[in-house]
Amino acid sequence: MDNVKTDFLVIGSGIAGLTFALKASRHGKVALVTKKNLAESNTNYAQGGIAAVLGSDDSFEQHEQDTMRVGYDLCHEDAVKILVENGPRMVNELIDFGVRFTKGKEGLDLGREGGHSKRRIAHAEDLTGSEIERALITTVEKSPNIQVFENHMAVDLVTKFKLRPASLKADADDDICYGAYVMDKETGHITPFTAKTTFLATGGLGKVYIYTSNPDIACGDGTAMAYRVGAAVANMEFMQFHPTCLYHPKAKSSLISEAVRGEGVELKLPNGEPFMEKYHEMGSLAPRDIVARAIDHEIKKLGVDSVYLDTTVKEADWFKKRFPHIYSTCMEFGIDPTREMIPVVPAAHYMCGGVITDIDAKTTIPGLFAAGECAHTGVHGANRLASNSLLEAIVFADRAVKNAVAHFNGRREETPEIPAWDIGSAVDADEQVVIHHMWDEIRRLMWNYVGIVRTNKRLARAKNRITLIRQEIEEYYWNFILTPDLLELRNLALCAEIIIDCAMRRKETRGLHYNLDYPNRDDKHFKKDTILFL
Ligand code: FAD
Ligand code: SIN
Repeated sequence: MDNVKTDFLVIGSGIAGLTFALKASRHGKVALVTKKNLAESNTNYAQGGIAAVLGSDDSFEQHEQDTMRVGYDLCHEDAVKILVENGPRMVNELIDFGVRFTKGKEGLDLGREGGHSKRRIAHAEDLTGSEIERALITTVEKSPNIQVFENHMAVDLVTKFKLRPASLKADADDDICYGAYVMDKETGHITPFTAKTTFLATGGLGKVYIYTSNPDIACGDGTAMAYRVGAAVANMEFMQFHPTCLYHPKAKSSLISEAVRGEGVELKLPNGEPFMEKYHEMGSLAPRDIVARAIDHEIKKLGVDSVYLDTTVKEADWFKKRFPHIYSTCMEFGIDPTREMIPVVPAAHYMCGGVITDIDAKTTIPGLFAAGECAHTGVHGANRLASNSLLEAIVFADRAVKNAVAHFNGRREETPEIPAWDIGSAVDADEQVVIHHMWDEIRRLMWNYVGIVRTNKRLARAKNRITLIRQEIEEYYWNFILTPDLLELRNLALCAEIIIDCAMRRKETRGLHYNLDYPNRDDKHFKKDTILFL
């Protein structure tokens, strides 16, 4: 394939990428690049739903207050306001795109999750994400202006400063994103995709940790690519651990939605004793950081493998109907939730930080926009309110389109041709197993040293090891022909290092960043974002 030229390059096909592609296609040609098939994304596994003010007993003020309270005073008020006030409109747009949300007696059936003071989660049974993907993909496939590239992986972004370092001036506004190099995963061939605007929607990075609710695509590719071209990133110390993933040796990444607790199911110890009241007045429905820490504490104190969700208290037919996917997943692993408690443990789930954007989804590099889990809009602060992320992705992807079109129309210079990818003297890697070993090492060290509970010593150990691992990966990268696994490893390692660096800078405890050496919050010095750039 020759150089692909397009108006809008979209990287990622979760809710953010698909939304942007659909809306941008009304203004020009879109190339939509995605690592696997179109549906494979974190979005596709979302269970609980999408938060919005939809109930008659709810208000924008209450949704805003819940978001800010759970975010430990680091949320950007302007971004939260935009998020909340656009919520009902965006849920209605999803319905117009064909999403079939579960209906209640009056209007939509609204679920509840941790940290929310009201029922405000629109859901499609317990498979909200795959229903959203289904509807958006159906619409994308009908759009003549969108060309889809499945099994294509963005390798690196291309900017003016990267292409012509001599043009580098002190003023970052002079830089501009020209598109990206993209690998066809089947052939390994890398092609330049030249675009007038580039939209990053690559999602999260749960795979940085050994235990995660995320699917394999979540390697932080977009965050790493943006950082490498000089974009600023923020607040990567705030990795959110979901309190309740199914504990079973064969259950990879199986989430038990917080909506289960929202319906009154309690967390219990192996002896059947409830324990969350000791930790927070909202009990099992406390904000996620508190529940995950409490479970971690109880598991370590008692030396047990997991705690339990006592689903047996609910009526069997009701449970099967309200959570059909969770019911069948548990049954697959020999656990009948209508008769026995579900064993659960916390796992890495959501990255609250990411590539810095303003409220118009602009990154610090002109021509590069971002939304969804890879972006840091300021909405989540130090801890994300449950079900705010699908909403954030769609609200800011929508805003990105308007601003990408303005950028596109206002461009002063033609986008130059991106040169062909140069493989230099790279040869085929002799031992692929090295990649898997390094991958495993990173994920374990992040879990053990940069997990739910941190200390200065653990962070220092993690920093030493990741520095060495990254040196080895860079040697590998320059000497051997690139493979998708090597690209993911390189991105994952960079994201791990950024998480560690952010965590070392925040010398306090706040929200998801819990450091035993600084057990208190320090508003005087740290009531601000942690910002990093090359
Ligand atoms: P994603 O949906 O992750 O999409 C990223 C896309 O980028 C994928 O298509 C991927 O293949 C592609 N990609 C990545 N790297 C590259 C590359 N280098 N080249 C090309 N393509 C690339 N949030 C809620 O609000 N409510 C919920 O109920 C909820 N439940 C969840 C349950 C689970 C199990 C998980 C894992 C997350 C859940 N979340 C939920 C979080 C939410 O799903 C995500 O934050 C959100 O879907 C992110 O959307 P996105 O479009 O930013 O990224
Ligand atoms: C869940 O269903 O528990 C996930 C919700 C979220 O991550 O927002």
